[in-house]
Amino acid sequence: MSTFDTIIRGGRISTASDTFHCDIGIRHGRIAALGEDLGEAERVIDAQGKWVLPGGIDSHVHISQPSGEGIRMADDFESATRSAALGGNTTVLPFCLQESGVPLRQSVQAYHAMAEGACYTDISFHLIISDPTEQVLGQELPALVGDGYTSFKVFMTYEGLALSDLELLKVMAVARETRALVMVHAENYDVIRFLTEQLEQAGRTAPRFHASSRPVIAEREATYRAISLAELSDVPLMVVHVSNREAMEEIRRAQQKGLKIFGETCPQYLTLTEQDLDGLNMEGAKYVCSPPPRDAASQEACWEGLQQGVFSVFSSDHCPFRYDDPQGKLAPKGRTSFRWVPNGIPGVGARLPILFSEGVIAGRIDINRFVALTATNHARTYGLYPRKGTIAVGADADIAIWDPQIEQVLTHAMLDDGSDYTPYEGMKITGWPVITLVRGEIVARNGRIEARKGHGTYLKREISQFA
Ligand code: URP
Ligand code: ZN
Ligand code: ZN
Repeated sequence: MSTFDTIIRGGRISTASDTFHCDIGIRHGRIAALGEDLGEAERVIDAQGKWVLPGGIDSHVHISQPSGEGIRMADDFESATRSAALGGNTTVLPFCLQESGVPLRQSVQAYHAMAEGACYTDISFHLIISDPTEQVLGQELPALVGDGYTSFKVFMTYEGLALSDLELLKVMAVARETRALVMVHAENYDVIRFLTEQLEQAGRTAPRFHASSRPVIAEREATYRAISLAELSDVPLMVVHVSNREAMEEIRRAQQKGLKIFGETCPQYLTLTEQDLDGLNMEGAKYVCSPPPRDAASQEACWEGLQQGVFSVFSSDHCPFRYDDPQGKLAPKGRTSFRWVPNGIPGVGARLPILFSEGVIAGRIDINRFVALTATNHARTYGLYPRKGTIAVGADADIAIWDPQIEQVLTHAMLDDGSDYTPYEGMKITGWPVITLVRGEIVARNGRIEARKGHGTYLKREISQFA
């Protein structure tokens, strides 16, 4: 009988801190040994010439989230985690949206029911707090944090989701009490409403005006305000999907003051610009997301934030709607004004190859920072470390094996998600994850899924390392 179920042999391993060559011995889904010449196993994976990295953790993903009347997200748990695994991810953290008038616990159970038996990667849930009633704040949230839902997202914009400053403070007070981590969508709702009305009155309703309705000022002001409220409340805060220099600098300033303020950016803010919303007819709708992609200088600022550690996590904000679909981007109402185009773009499968190619191969970041930004820091931030996010003895064998030399042009077909497009179509990508193992099982190999649906399991999380 061999000592290991699987040995990954001869690869170049990188963690968030080191790069070294050795074999990885896997037993019962965990890393059991790192060493030279580990002997034989039932399965040996030859990783000569490959880079062996912790599997990606995507901590900002929307799956099957209710998105308004007549609108449907393009991915369910099966298709989203399939695309995630093909793109080198081993864990994703989708949101569970609190629906108005429904007990939060009931919403959580509904998400579990949708995910159960459907996932290829492991999953866990953040909560979205849309209605912080006394019952929610006093009873439901503390109980759910205790049960492992240790982070929640709050919105400063969007009809039905935006919280007032008072409500934000009340949620933060619960976070302080329970040591949950607050994530914030920082855009000034009234600025957006005001500009949207003006644009519509002027007949400027095409998708491209989505960007005009949500300028940098709206994001910067809300970022500053959210940080101020977190400082007052003495809670750590993750500012998600940061798109530009001014918001990034607000986060940097807070960090330099010693506050526990964290930042996240996403592929769309490195690769797309406002101009992409300017497509013929409704094509621009494919790029409608919030905050909107900005300009080349903003892209540079986001790179700087990644290089200098202002942003600790790089996520996809995967929020998929089909384009050519009356329940997606081309919903009848969406054709009347950008205001009604569903917000969000797909990216769970493309996130890692984009950062690998544009970041590591292009020389903007090294491989250790890549690992930190795509796996380790997500695990640390969201209570999954050291079980997830690193390659170490005792950790889950969640591993992506990369071929750093594959050069290809990104097409939607490679991502195999539920959308009918990718906003990154045609990008030249160098490097690709050729094998993804989740807890020691090969889930994806060479663009094909090999594991059974349902191999992915739910993860109850600990308190964030930063709370
Ligand atoms: O446009 C976006 N980002 N949609 C997803 C929801 C959110 O705000 O993260
Ligand atoms: Zn958001
Ligand atoms: Zn999002």
